Amino acid sequence: MTDKNEWGSNLSFILAMIGSAVGLGNIWRYPYVLYSNGGGAFYIPYIVAILLMGIPFLILEYGVGYNYKSSFAKAITNIDSKWQYLGWLLPVAVFMIMIYYSAILGWDGIYMILSFFKGWGADPNSFFTTTLLQSSDSYMGLTNFIPLIAVAMLIGWAIIWFISHKDLEKGLGKVSKVLVPLLFIIMIVIVGFSLTLPGASIGLAELFNPDWSLLGNFNIWMAAFGQIIFSLSLGMSIAFTYASYTKDDADLITNTLSIAFANCAFENFAALGVFSILGYMSMQSGTAVADLVTQGTGLVFIAYPTVFNVLGNWALVLGPLFFLTVYLAGLTSILSTIEPLSFSIQNKFGLTRSKTMTILCITGAAISMLYATSYGGSLLGYVDTFINQIALLFGIIVECIVFAWIFDAEKLIDFLNSRTKTIKVGKWWLIIVKYVLPIAISIIWIGGMIDVINNGSMEQLIFTVLTALVLLIVTLVLTVRHAKTGDWENADERV
Ligand code: PHE
Repeated sequence: MTDKNEWGSNLSFILAMIGSAVGLGNIWRYPYVLYSNGGGAFYIPYIVAILLMGIPFLILEYGVGYNYKSSFAKAITNIDSKWQYLGWLLPVAVFMIMIYYSAILGWDGIYMILSFFKGWGADPNSFFTTTLLQSSDSYMGLTNFIPLIAVAMLIGWAIIWFISHKDLEKGLGKVSKVLVPLLFIIMIVIVGFSLTLPGASIGLAELFNPDWSLLGNFNIWMAAFGQIIFSLSLGMSIAFTYASYTKDDADLITNTLSIAFANCAFENFAALGVFSILGYMSMQSGTAVADLVTQGTGLVFIAYPTVFNVLGNWALVLGPLFFLTVYLAGLTSILSTIEPLSFSIQNKFGLTRSKTMTILCITGAAISMLYATSYGGSLLGYVDTFINQIALLFGIIVECIVFAWIFDAEKLIDFLNSRTKTIKVGKWWLIIVKYVLPIAISIIWIGGMIDVINNGSMEQLIFTVLTALVLLIVTLVLTVRHAKTGDWENADERV
């Protein structure tokens, strides 16, 4: 028997964490980022970002999370109660990600069904934007509700609730042990098939053709750091929460290395598949690969259906498999986005896991209906940019300050080193988490804000400010409400 909020084994922890990391960012974001930032040359900033930021930061978040066998908000309050507000800010921001992620999951669910009969028709672009999303750039679109999308999203919420409201190991632990290996297997099948397509080598040559001259360009370094933050779900209090659920004998450094490796292997593997398929399509259609590459929704819901249209009967197997992969990758990620807020609420207000999850799922599902309108697509883009470029980067900076400085990361070194079977941490690690990271991320953070202010439309600015207000107010309410549990300000420490 395990506790309600405890992993049954180290394997559950690793797989759930890989499930959180491997998501839409690996499938739809990474291939495009790699391609548009110098191809093969991108590997240099990418590897630097993993070694300098990804691994050291994850070790920090795991270390402090493990030390406090309690939620993010409770641990921060315990480190210094003046910072409680920040302890709620990140879990709430991550819950906001959950709400819009549920829309993408819903769209993908619809495509999974359509893919059995290529239901998107001959023009996937207009099908996606006009027929399905009925996209509108004006906020008046909020009044046009789209029931099909709403139903698809609610099915997603029901699945999430069903898994999350159970005890941790019986729900998320068990599901991760099945879905994450399955995700890797299906991906191997899809990529294996893609590599055999005629024209695959054209796409791959295009992908890896290094443009070394870009190495001196600041933007590709920003892109690499941004990708690793998003892909490894850094600074989101997720790694922290998952580590706080571990048992007493965890080898956190080795776990970090396995998770970072699995995530990066997956996204590079996905890139091989995506570009083989684009190479094939370029050969069939005579369009240059460069003109076919898009990112995000464009790649998944427009470029892929276009490929499936020219792929003949193979598409009837490959299509459903592909949309299933995206669904599983999205599901295992979205499941992680509810944990930090849920555990923090359980700790402060004394609710059970099951009741908290039920309340959060109902609230999330209700708010997510904003995305089931004609304005949903635009709104999603704005909220996503705000959360990723502004709120979460701020979160990483804050975590570095609170964990590395105020908590004092040095306290963790002996403990981390006594369990590890692989590398040991030392002075270099402290220097990275105390100095290098906060400075590097601050630079990226300022760059992101300038980007939103300079390039955003008026509507984007207004919705960014509104999103920020919602985030700040919800956080404030959770902070000032009185705790219902007696030990709220006293978290147990393990190290
Ligand atoms: N890491 C996930 C991905 O690569 C994205 C994610 C973001 C997951 C935020 C959880 C929370 O898609």
